[in-house]
Amino acid sequence: MKQDMIIILDLGSTENTSLAREIRALGVYSEIYPHDISASELRALTNAKGIIIYGGPNNIIDGEPISVGAHLAESGYPIMAIAYRPGNWNAEYPDWETAAPHLKDFIFDTCKATANWNMKNFVADQIELIRSQVGDKKVLLALSGGVDSSVVAALLIKAIGSNLVCVHVNNGLMRKDESEYVIEVFEKQLAANLVYVDATERILTKLEGIAEPEEKRKIIGIEFIRIFEEEARRLGGTCAISFLAQGTIYPDIVESGTKTATVIKSHHNVGGLPADMQFDLVEPIRQLFKDEVRACGLELGLPDEMVFRQPFPGPGLGVRCLGAITRDRLYAVRESDAILREEFKRAGLDKKVWQYFTAIPDFKSVGVRNHTRTYEYTVIIRAINTIDAMTASIEEIEWPLLQKITARILYEVKNVNRVCYDLSPKPVATIEWE
Ligand code: XMP
Repeated sequence: MKQDMIIILDLGSTENTSLAREIRALGVYSEIYPHDISASELRALTNAKGIIIYGGPNNIIDGEPISVGAHLAESGYPIMAIAYRPGNWNAEYPDWETAAPHLKDFIFDTCKATANWNMKNFVADQIELIRSQVGDKKVLLALSGGVDSSVVAALLIKAIGSNLVCVHVNNGLMRKDESEYVIEVFEKQLAANLVYVDATERILTKLEGIAEPEEKRKIIGIEFIRIFEEEARRLGGTCAISFLAQGTIYPDIVESGTKTATVIKSHHNVGGLPADMQFDLVEPIRQLFKDEVRACGLELGLPDEMVFRQPFPGPGLGVRCLGAITRDRLYAVRESDAILREEFKRAGLDKKVWQYFTAIPDFKSVGVRNHTRTYEYTVIIRAINTIDAMTASIEEIEWPLLQKITARILYEVKNVNRVCYDLSPKPVATIEWE
């Protein structure tokens, strides 16, 4: 990395990431390192300009303060220490409120860091790093079409061209036209070396009669890994593949636990790949936060539609076609979701609402159409807002828009005679229905 960096030493504060983001927002790159970083590890960070020690709830372990090592003081880097706020026990250091106004002075005046952290430099740096890591070897990437894997693909295509082999698995649970869109953008526009695997029949057959949500998720996940593994072996037979690219991003690494922070959740991007598949990993966006990933995607020329995509769960429509999946209900949830997305886009809500989709329960109800009794399915609309998906509130959709969407679903989607709007926040409900 040629860009200047401020090191944050991790003492378990959950605010470390906010501090890193704050520093990056000033145009200076910042990364979090363990509190016991060694002198030689520190020396290897040649682009470091200064160190911030940010206190945390684990400042004291077993009654003893965590030692941050004398070599830090001897490293020659300017050091700023900020105390952990609750209790503010460490009165030789200022707390965050006192320290915040001095952050800029510390970074630019004391550390003499240059504000050279931007996406243009990041992309140029990563292209150079990828080329030196990979050489002329081949890299494999599971390209779902989600933001992270798409940005990784675009970056690797720039760096190594057709030596990146993208595998897009259509699990039969994608949204309307989604696989076609991935092919259009990557194969046609970006000339990616793309392998398309249509696993629709295989996965839907495996799911037949399976109603329990966790079992469905497991089948979808395991089958995906099997298919990807088969493709990797098949491709490995024709061209030796040495690397596996992953869309790991910075929160994945931080949330997976550091030495002093507790584990929030473990992340496995292509978790469960067999141990005998010996790939080295390429993770070019592992230092980026989500909004930075999007900025990187725009810098690489990916379409807005792909870069600002709303989150879509790995098991796809499989967890929105409730209970045992049937083809007629899968069709109905896919078509109604497409109508909802089209109308939200037309109303400008696609940029405002965090996540919106339809779900379809596995029961029918009585209705009437053209003076004739019907016995058909119900579509449920869900539209929520959240910051981190841990809690969620309901979007208050204008009545005329809800009526328009309802009318379109009732008249355009076969086998549906009822539309409901889900008013349940998280908690008590979850965002997805399964
Ligand atoms: P819940 O339903 O747990 O969802 O409130 C929280 C957020 O996570 C998404 N989600 C998933 N994402 N794989 C994913 O990549 C999954 O298996 C999965 N399940 C839920 C969900 O869409 C929401 O944004």
